[in-house]
Amino acid sequence: MSQSQRQNGPGPRRGQGPFGVRVTRRGAIAGAAMLGAGAALDRTLSGGGDSSPAAAVAFHGEHQAGIATPIQSHLHFAAFDMSTSSRRALRGLLASWTDAAASLTAGTEYVSARAARIDTGEALDLSPARLTLTFGFGPGLFERGRFGLANRRPPMLEPLPPFAGENLDPESSGGELCVQACADDAQVAFHAIHVLSLIADGTATLRWAQLGFRRMSNPAGPSPAPRNLLGFRDGTNNLKGEDVAAMSRFVWVAAGEGPAWLEGGSYLIARRIEIAFPAWDVTPLDQQERTIGRRKRSGAPLTGRREHDPVDLSAIGADGRPVIPLDAHIRLASAHANAGRRLLRRGYSYSRGITPGPLDRGGHQIDGGLFFIAFARDPRRQFIPLARRLATHDALNAFAVHTASAIFACPPGVRPGGYIGQGLLA
Ligand code: HEM
Repeated sequence: MSQSQRQNGPGPRRGQGPFGVRVTRRGAIAGAAMLGAGAALDRTLSGGGDSSPAAAVAFHGEHQAGIATPIQSHLHFAAFDMSTSSRRALRGLLASWTDAAASLTAGTEYVSARAARIDTGEALDLSPARLTLTFGFGPGLFERGRFGLANRRPPMLEPLPPFAGENLDPESSGGELCVQACADDAQVAFHAIHVLSLIADGTATLRWAQLGFRRMSNPAGPSPAPRNLLGFRDGTNNLKGEDVAAMSRFVWVAAGEGPAWLEGGSYLIARRIEIAFPAWDVTPLDQQERTIGRRKRSGAPLTGRREHDPVDLSAIGADGRPVIPLDAHIRLASAHANAGRRLLRRGYSYSRGITPGPLDRGGHQIDGGLFFIAFARDPRRQFIPLARRLATHDALNAFAVHTASAIFACPPGVRPGGYIGQGLLA
């Protein structure tokens, strides 16, 4: 059993929360057809619903789900700005979001009693699809005079510094709140953000959003890491969510490292990185492989034969040069180059159609790349120095430009009866 299952174990929950009524989605649809809506409601509320426990990740737990949870195939990431400075309104929003998130992740219909709204409906006949909803707080929430939270600001929650070569779009960067919705069904993830944004209406507004997708690992194949849009296996040398010791060492904020409300939480760093496909696509295979430091087909390091062979950064080739070039991505990003520090990467490929503008100025090309998401216990030590080194030396820079950036502090998980960020706002 994975850590995420233990801490945010599978299994739908039913019942009535403080702000809404939950109805099993698939149970309500199937039952309504056979028995009539009233009987279906009765059946699902008493626990006889039809949702698949295997496809639900529990919302409550010590840590928020969606961090250690094995990655799902779809992402819908949304950043919000508060449209009021009322702390009471912020608390109410987080309480309502908590209640809705418990329903949505269990695959139950969310009917808000407070707002007199009904579920938007597009996920009515769908399973929970391992939906996880992970909430975070941006630096702006803690600004003096905003919500009276300045003295509770985690010292590491600062907007990321500028990095060489980036070309950020301020309209798809930053944000005061974020929701990372991940699911094995794009429509389930969409639905969750749709419902949460409706609940936010009048209190917070959507600032920007990003969709993402990734191939799932092939359990039957010899190599588990799926390929990104460069065609390379991505995630080979990543932290594993089920590695409890590594998660404590690199991901979860420990006692005394910041304000008490963040203990057991983490920092989420998001960077949208656009790939220059016209340049990459005409780059010869051996140069692509030297850019990453791994073989394209197998994912093996240039110093090995199989994907999980150890990376030998000291190996020297017959030409007297390092086998893994000094500017190769995996050399510069290695824990070795980062004083042993690592990150949990949980990013998704993205595609946004075509680049805008005329053909002779870079328009009409595929607009896509990597929506990089990482979780770290200490962004100042784990992310910033690494990103600085990559920004100035990484051979990958010839093919990639960072176009969006954000950082959020994700509070710990929610206990039944509590709400997200309760430690911060109570
Ligand atoms: C377009 C952007 C990027 C692409 C396509 C990309 C792709 C890859 C690939 C193919 C690998 C090798 C397989 C693996 O171990 O997962 C890798 C490794 C890694 N990447 Fe990236 N990456 C990108 C950006 C970044 C950024 C911005 C960071 C952090 C600031 C980062 C951090 C890492 C780390 C820590 C590793 C593992 C290195 C090791 O210890 O072997 N990557 N990346």
